[in-house]
Amino acid sequence: MMAYGFSQLVIFSASFVCIFIIQSYPTTVAAASTGGSWALLRSTIGISAMHMQLLPSDRVLIFDRTDFGASNISLPEGICREDPHDYVLKKDCTAHSVEYDVVSNSVRPLMVLTDVWCSSGALMPDGSFVQTGGFNDGDHVVRVYNSSCSNCDWEEIDSGLVNRRWYATNHILPDGRQIVIGGRRQFNYEFYPKTPASEKSYSLPFLVQTNDPNIENNLYPFVFLHTDGNLFIFANNRSVLFNYSRNKVLKTFPEIPGGEPRNYPSTGSAVLLPLRVVQGNVAVVEVLVCGGAPKGAFVNAQNGTFDGALNSCGRINISDPDPKWVMEIMPFRRVMGDMVLLPNGDVLIINGGSNGTGGWEYGRNPVLNPVVYRPYNPIDARFDVQNPSVIPRMYHSTAILLRDGRVLVGGSNPHVYYNFTNVVYPTELSLEAFSPSYLDPNLSGLRPKIISPVSQSKILYGEQIVVRFTVQTQIDVNLISVTMIAPSFNTHSFSMNQRLLVLDSGKATKTLEKLTYEVNTTTPSAGHIAPPGYYMLFVVHQEIASEGIWVVVS
Ligand SMILES: *[C@@H]1O[C@H](CO)[C@@H](O)[C@H](O)[C@H]1NC(C)=O
Ligand SMILES: *[C@@H]1O[C@H](CO)[C@@H](O)[C@H](O)[C@H]1NC(C)=O
Ligand SMILES: *[C@@H]1O[C@H](CO)[C@@H](O)[C@H](O)[C@H]1NC(C)=O
Ligand SMILES: *[C@@H]1O[C@H](CO)[C@@H](O)[C@H](O)[C@H]1NC(C)=O
Ligand SMILES: *[C@@H]1O[C@H](CO)[C@@H](O)[C@H](O)[C@H]1NC(C)=O
Ligand SMILES: *[C@@H]1O[C@H](CO)[C@@H](O)[C@H](O)[C@H]1NC(C)=O
Ligand SMILES: *[C@@H]1O[C@H](CO)[C@@H](O)[C@H](O)[C@H]1NC(C)=O
Ligand SMILES: *[C@@H]1O[C@H](CO)[C@@H](O)[C@H](O)[C@H]1NC(C)=O
Ligand SMILES: *[C@@H]1O[C@H](CO)[C@@H](O)[C@H](O)[C@H]1NC(C)=O
Ligand SMILES: *[C@@H]1O[C@H](CO)[C@@H](O)[C@H](O)[C@H]1NC(C)=O
Repeated sequence: MMAYGFSQLVIFSASFVCIFIIQSYPTTVAAASTGGSWALLRSTIGISAMHMQLLPSDRVLIFDRTDFGASNISLPEGICREDPHDYVLKKDCTAHSVEYDVVSNSVRPLMVLTDVWCSSGALMPDGSFVQTGGFNDGDHVVRVYNSSCSNCDWEEIDSGLVNRRWYATNHILPDGRQIVIGGRRQFNYEFYPKTPASEKSYSLPFLVQTNDPNIENNLYPFVFLHTDGNLFIFANNRSVLFNYSRNKVLKTFPEIPGGEPRNYPSTGSAVLLPLRVVQGNVAVVEVLVCGGAPKGAFVNAQNGTFDGALNSCGRINISDPDPKWVMEIMPFRRVMGDMVLLPNGDVLIINGGSNGTGGWEYGRNPVLNPVVYRPYNPIDARFDVQNPSVIPRMYHSTAILLRDGRVLVGGSNPHVYYNFTNVVYPTELSLEAFSPSYLDPNLSGLRPKIISPVSQSKILYGEQIVVRFTVQTQIDVNLISVTMIAPSFNTHSFSMNQRLLVLDSGKATKTLEKLTYEVNTTTPSAGHIAPPGYYMLFVVHQEIASEGIWVVVS
């Protein structure tokens, strides 16, 4: 039995008790904030940043949903979307997707024809973004966005999916295809693009086993590509190692201690910790799952009780033959947080609230302070509280890494008709950037600047490349590392298709030119270490990251 019906709940019910609560939320206060700074980039981008993807053009695709009224940005002159399936406006002349240009800080409206709400996606190896599913008339649709042109728009493939996909998770595979896993009432997976050998969907009983009959706490499963080529899938409170070609669970990991649910609507977050490549191999593959809402939080929130969010993280070494979870405690409770891999290997935990659960109107007490998790510090010295924002970022907020090292932050609990008043948290159309402390101006003398290769360079698997950079001071050449990060698709507190590789590099050496250095680096050996496609490559000097360059691995 379903305890809640999303569509009715979200679209028609403007009569929650909580809507009438005045905006006087207490906020969690930081004990000691140590770093990072915030900037409001735009007070409005016209839509709510519910889903975000950085493109290799340094533009960001952003979309919300098509069926909840007129947004704050019009489609170009004369263009309207007429959709008999729309619940609110059958004819809508506003945009529900935009392309945000990082460099010029401007937005361009885009046209999505069908509902992209709670969809999934990933950047393909050719740089196009493929997004799958959504709600209502959009649930079987595949949408392709060509990022190589300056005025492209979405192209939609009506029956691109075998099954409806709503709250599914996607990942790029070593062969460059995407896998699309689960979604509401979909205990199966499929691939995109389809090949003759894989044109149907394949059952995944693990999603039945983790589907609590009252609340489906296994939506938007946390999926990572293990460096052995299999998938790690975490849903609710359990995880498995899965061979998608054989359709076989190879291993069941121990349940996360405490057994609390971590996926939507409990909405914790997760990262695949940095992968250190040594002679083509990765010995340690670790997953970190943080926060969420306790069992029963959704039903309690419906009844007006906002449970304290989880403050624990579980970390597991999935390459260990006998892996065990190690639990750690965050400085704050957090539900609907986003975990973002930073170029220096740290993890930023940002957005969300300290009470309630995922779902419209069900979060309380925004956590305005991000926290940086330093994975390789001693276990009692990993969390650093950062300076707070002033804007609550609750349900449907997003955060992604930009190539310049900043983290783009947008969205929050939106409302039907984009209401801004008489709601607990107003619909939030603004876009902010959080600059981690490695971007502090007083560190500019220590920051590397990459001179070569040039951005957009193509690199081959297992190739040796020389990365040349400058630093405005004499440096200790032992303190240099080179990292590569895949641009993830972020929605609902999870970044799909995460990968941060710390490349195998020699000691940096100084070249003849003043303050110019070079480091020899070996690119990843194969697709299971790094699926083909676009990555941002950074030089890191003592935790301080350069601006990245785009590289294309093939
Ligand atoms: C967006 O909001 C601004 C400020 O409220 C308003 O002036 C403008 O007309 C709105 N634009 C659209 C297209 O709704
Ligand atoms: C994407 O756009 C570029 C530039 O307009 C074009 O050359 C390319 O063919 C397009 N790619 C696809 C797959 O349509
Ligand atoms: C998955 O199983 C297939 C079929 O047995 C096998 O060819 C493949 O190597 C396996 N994949 C991994 C990553 O082990
Ligand atoms: C893990 O989740 C399942 C499904 O909701 C639940 O039955 C089980 O009790 C949970 N484990 C613990 C230890 O709470
Ligand atoms: C919610 O509150 C109502 C009214 O107090 C009560 O009847 C119901 O049992 C509660 N439901 C849950 C799941 O606690
Ligand atoms: C939030 O959770 C804490 C811890 O459980 C609790 O003490 C507090 O009353 C809750 N706040 C709200 C507004 O429900
Ligand atoms: C993870 O497991 C691998 C393989 O057993 C082992 O070599 C490594 O030391 C472990 N790392 C951590 C951090 O536990
Ligand atoms: C939201 O906006 C619509 C349209 O302006 C209005 O009819 C409705 O009453 C608003 N809802 C709330 C809770 O203010
Ligand atoms: C840089 O400035 C920040 C304040 O903006 C300060 O907290 C930090 O300690 C400074 N760092 C260094 C290395 O001077
Ligand atoms: C990098 O490798 C090239 C070619 O293998 C070699 O000529 C060069 O000296 C190396 N540079 C460093 C810094 O090791």
